[in-house]
Amino acid sequence: MGFFKRKPAEKKVPEGRVEGFYKVTGSGKYAAEYKIDNVCYAVLVGSTIAAGEITDINVENAKQVEGVLDVLTHRNRPQIPAFADEAKAKRSGFSLPVLHTKKIFFRGQPIALVIADTLEDANYAASLVTATYKTATAKVDFDSAHASVPATAAGKERGSMDAWKNAPHIREQAYTIRHQVHNPMEMHATIAVWESDNKLKLYDKNQGVNSVQQTISRLFEIPAANIEVFSEYVGGGFGSGLKVWANVPLAIMAAKQVSRPVKLMLTRPQMFTLVGYRPQSWQNVKIGADANGKFLGILHQAKHGTAVFDNYSEGITRISRLVYNFENLKTEAATVPLNLGAPTWMRGPGDCTGAFALESAIDELSYDIKKDPLQLRLDNLAVINDPDTGKPWSTNFLNECMTKGAEMINWKSRNPIPAQHKEGDWMIGYGMANGMWFAGRSKASASIIMQKDGTLTVQTAMTDIGTGTGTGMQNIAHDRLGISHDKIRIRLGNSNLPAAPSQGGSTGLSTISGAVAAVCDALKTKLAGYAASQDAIYKDAKPETIILSDNGVSFQQAENHFISFDKIFSKENLQTIEVEASSGPGEERQKYAFCSGASHFCRVKVHTKTGKVKIDRHVCVVDAGHVVNKLAAANQVSGAAVGGIGMTLSEEQLTDNTHGVFIGADLAGYHFAVNADAPIIEVDFINKIDPNINPSGAKGVGEVGIIGAAAAIANAIYHATGKRLRDLPITPDKVLLA
Ligand code: MOS
Repeated sequence: MGFFKRKPAEKKVPEGRVEGFYKVTGSGKYAAEYKIDNVCYAVLVGSTIAAGEITDINVENAKQVEGVLDVLTHRNRPQIPAFADEAKAKRSGFSLPVLHTKKIFFRGQPIALVIADTLEDANYAASLVTATYKTATAKVDFDSAHASVPATAAGKERGSMDAWKNAPHIREQAYTIRHQVHNPMEMHATIAVWESDNKLKLYDKNQGVNSVQQTISRLFEIPAANIEVFSEYVGGGFGSGLKVWANVPLAIMAAKQVSRPVKLMLTRPQMFTLVGYRPQSWQNVKIGADANGKFLGILHQAKHGTAVFDNYSEGITRISRLVYNFENLKTEAATVPLNLGAPTWMRGPGDCTGAFALESAIDELSYDIKKDPLQLRLDNLAVINDPDTGKPWSTNFLNECMTKGAEMINWKSRNPIPAQHKEGDWMIGYGMANGMWFAGRSKASASIIMQKDGTLTVQTAMTDIGTGTGTGMQNIAHDRLGISHDKIRIRLGNSNLPAAPSQGGSTGLSTISGAVAAVCDALKTKLAGYAASQDAIYKDAKPETIILSDNGVSFQQAENHFISFDKIFSKENLQTIEVEASSGPGEERQKYAFCSGASHFCRVKVHTKTGKVKIDRHVCVVDAGHVVNKLAAANQVSGAAVGGIGMTLSEEQLTDNTHGVFIGADLAGYHFAVNADAPIIEVDFINKIDPNINPSGAKGVGEVGIIGAAAAIANAIYHATGKRLRDLPITPDKVLLA
């Protein structure tokens, strides 16, 4: 369980995913799929109002249902120790409602948890729970709420607004993006097992087992070491798995109440209200340039929704500080509290939203100036220094991304004048935009267990949310050690393994690559130590001078110093060799700024009679440092770009503003981009090593594949039709009415 080892048939394809066989055959287990003895099922009941408080709740009918073990409400739930009083609850840093209050903050907020022997019984009983409420006025409409919330300074300014007030070209526009939800394939689920009074096992869908372990330790006041969290296979993340949601403590409380393991899996509609979303946003961008198109200044203002009970703020304006040289810059931001569930990081949070406005505004300016939008950007790029910190970029090849992408899509063949190219009923247009994302890295640990036959298990608590982390780790271990891929197993997603941060912010591989490199060196050093007792040449051997093969160790290229693993294990009387190491960022973070970059190019067809937009081609060229595994990296970019297509053309969760209820909150009502909506995404990489970031030279990939995608598409729609659309998603009605 949880061991990734390539199947023999995959040997010929070293880029294949280490977890592929297990995911495809269904033998890899997602959180809700573990078979636990004596497990029972919990089903959540949500409030039917969006604001107010519960005056009465009737659970008697539900309790009569055969097989029902108990029904938890705010009246009878076991106490979460960290919520013992209000002051304590505040300090816990956990602000989600978990049956600890009768107050209602959003529609769908858990008001009861029905626990039964079977899921069917629990579901039926849940339908019988009723509540009465004292209703308060709910604010769910971002559009009307944000007007009364002023934006304030969002970071240090550069220069002054006055310096460019008379710029020959000034463009000022507002851009909006609707509420969007993550909805990965795998729904959030938790199985909670109390092994004793203060010992817990959690099988949970998340992006970071150690983070869940720490949060639960804090809430339930039990030592982290007594909590084991499994998230060995993850069916998509998108950010919703970065936070501990109500389902985790609720499953734990239920398991305590009935003294049995409890499984709680959210329904698809509950995925819309209980595990975060990308908040609706409004942005205003004012941008100025001189007659030649040199950027003189920018004002970027942004507001987005948040929950009344949990303030979440994402850095929408940050991207404006990074990509281009604006001598004069001012950014302002605000959050707008609403009676909705809590928002959270989603697919390139902040920058993805910000890039739509920034890269649209730049495009608008380019047509004002009558300058090629590609050239305008190239002329203003900040590829030497990070304009925000003044530090030199460690590496930044965004200019090369742009040049390469332009070649791939044949940008120069494009008519600079919009709305000129028609094929039958379709208008054709080209657009481009840039994206950037911080290339972060944190500290992590990994260990290796070596068997006598030279088989290795490389392991860490980090999860793999489908990004290819495990595969990348195998590639790095192979490169570092020389042992063949099929002898390297990967084990992930268990909090008992060496500690690692959550997989998020496209930092996973960058973070873990350092630990894998360090633990590979530790293995070499350990083997050299054993070898030294048989051959003195190994006495002062450094990891660089040790060469491993599938069978043994040798010193540099000298064949005659070969010692087999078998001999080492026998002589030392070893069953296994185990080493562990940690690695994290250091001084380089003081010296340099780090970023990944992407340039998106898009060819769209817009139907003149129906307003339908078809993405004909989408090219994405990425600077993500050294590409450790091209297949996995390209897969991240392509998935991200498809997410960008959904974000631009169809994704929006609408709210009935009278009742605070989501309309069509399921996968039939909420439209993701599917295969029919996306062409094969044409992905390429600059693939130049970043020498400072970590031992692998790889920068983050995933999120930069969506940041900028929306603007590239919207810009292409403008080029096709002459219609500028500033409100996402760009649905056919908006295209026709513009
Ligand atoms: Mo990502 S939004 O950091 O999982």
